[in-house]
Amino acid sequence: MCGIVGYVGKDQAAPILLEGLTKLEYRGYDSAGIAVRDGKNAPVTVKEKGRIADLKDKIGPVESIVGTCGIGHTRWATHGAPSETNAHPHHSDDDAVIGVHNGIIENYEEIRDKLKRNGYRFYSQTDTECIIKLVDYYYKKYGEGPLRAISRAILRVRGSYALCLMFADYPGEIFCARNGSPMIIGKNGKDAFIASDVPAILNHTRKVYYIDNMEMARLKEGSIEFYNIDCEPLVKTLTEITWDAEAAERGGFEHFMMKEIHEQPKAVEDTIHSVTDDKDKIDLSSTGLTAEDIKAIDNILIIGCGSAYHVGMVAQYVFEDMTGIPVRVEVASEFRYRRSPIAPNTLAIIISQSGETADSLEALRKCKAAGVKTLAIVNVIGSSIAREADYVFYTLAGPEIAVATTKAYSTQLVANDLLAIEFARVRGNLTKKQAAALVKELKTLPDKIQRILDDKERIQWFASKFANANDIFFIGRGLDFATCMEGSLKMKETSYVHSEAYAAGELKHGTISLIEDGILVIGVCTQSEVIEKTISNMVEVKSRGGYLMGLTTAGNYNMEDIANFCVFIPKTDEHFTTSLAVIPLQLMGYYVSLARGVDVDKPRNLAKSVTVE
Ligand code: M6R
Repeated sequence: MCGIVGYVGKDQAAPILLEGLTKLEYRGYDSAGIAVRDGKNAPVTVKEKGRIADLKDKIGPVESIVGTCGIGHTRWATHGAPSETNAHPHHSDDDAVIGVHNGIIENYEEIRDKLKRNGYRFYSQTDTECIIKLVDYYYKKYGEGPLRAISRAILRVRGSYALCLMFADYPGEIFCARNGSPMIIGKNGKDAFIASDVPAILNHTRKVYYIDNMEMARLKEGSIEFYNIDCEPLVKTLTEITWDAEAAERGGFEHFMMKEIHEQPKAVEDTIHSVTDDKDKIDLSSTGLTAEDIKAIDNILIIGCGSAYHVGMVAQYVFEDMTGIPVRVEVASEFRYRRSPIAPNTLAIIISQSGETADSLEALRKCKAAGVKTLAIVNVIGSSIAREADYVFYTLAGPEIAVATTKAYSTQLVANDLLAIEFARVRGNLTKKQAAALVKELKTLPDKIQRILDDKERIQWFASKFANANDIFFIGRGLDFATCMEGSLKMKETSYVHSEAYAAGELKHGTISLIEDGILVIGVCTQSEVIEKTISNMVEVKSRGGYLMGLTTAGNYNMEDIANFCVFIPKTDEHFTTSLAVIPLQLMGYYVSLARGVDVDKPRNLAKSVTVE
């Protein structure tokens, strides 16, 4: 949600900032801006509504902005509409402090009123202007320097944020602080970089420091210092980012989403291999989980948002079936505000690609406060959820740039499968041999995903027929219903076509009244125990005019007598069919979006990482 970039060093800042913002555009893209300082001169600030390309057009030749110290921001509006005025950077009335901000200041109105009483005027509707001016207020009132002013402001505000500031009195320096929103500091020789997300600086360095909550940093050429909230120095260690810059580029594909769909075989394979050996034995030691921990679990609570929640729905079926442990799945934003009891000996599993989703992070904290153990399944190393959980299973999807998740989702599925198999083995529900056979089958998924991708033109042809659809329904039972939830989300978020996922048996309790001539209904049928039931529901839909797409497993050829269009996925163990069935649905979403001319990597109103409630 919003992107921050900063640079101070020997090179010109503007090209580095614009390049970094372009890489971060997936985090927010309704307006953008940069501020660059040349020595003691006042900063040059340029802001524009729209995409980074619009900002670049406004700037013209990048050499026109001179200076080796600067900050930049790409915005996803929370307070105040997308506009040049509300775009960052924001500044104090006399330009003593200028800054950019990610996240939300919850008590900004109270702060604005206080500052107004002290003579401040406000030009924007943003909460960012309030925090910049609050820092300015403390800076001038106490005269104790930037760090003290920032720490006083941090103690006064509520919310989650990452802040990056320049002070008129401190040329060639950038100050930053964070609480809740991600921020990293990169180092390359004497050059220092700030970024809210790794891809922004990957072209310049892979060596980064992580700033923790309620910590600050002070950067100038050749020096990076860290402080706690009391302004006491902190010692931090450099971490190496293993993602390479190429992984965050489009690599010949028209869109990141298509590239990431095609990266699924490798991402799934890497994730499986990260915890298994050649003999198909699982080793969870990298997560921190021990056999004793696993044996002590009485309940599992799975929490996530959006697609991560859909992974949780799949995981619930798989865990319960393989281990017999009762599993509850919760949407993080609901769970965090409900007074629901969390039983002792519960393992809370928090699923999150970014590891920064505000609601998931708060849900994790709620579980920790309740005294239960937490396991994070995250893709971003060093992210907040990863750092706060007791155990971490890192998925190896690599950087995911498209707003609609595909490869991260697929890696989360297999991460849960692996956990379920190992839990079942450790607790005696599966023999060693049975567990190894399941792992062996899991290892066939990358090839099977590839086979589905190789046939993508058929899906493209079918999707193009439904580019003008107003509604699409997805129906299925059990694990297939969970797949439908994800397929439906992919469709609506990428193509703006209204779609709904229904447990097939629920249709006749009301929703079937929406079915009329020509409406596309996609029936997912991979579970032998319920396939006949779902097929009956599809027939009911067809007799009311629905146009049927049947998504089923190779061998179920009677589907051709029922559905108008069939997609067959390779056979696998039925616990794992979601990993295959989701692929045609991702492709459907992508191709319908393409046919409708939607910006598939950056659909309207969305951002990659939802770091606000
Ligand atoms: O980073 P997270 O996995 O925590 O993100 C959760 C959701 O915001 C995310 O899955 C979202 O639903 C995607 N747009 C789905 O494609």
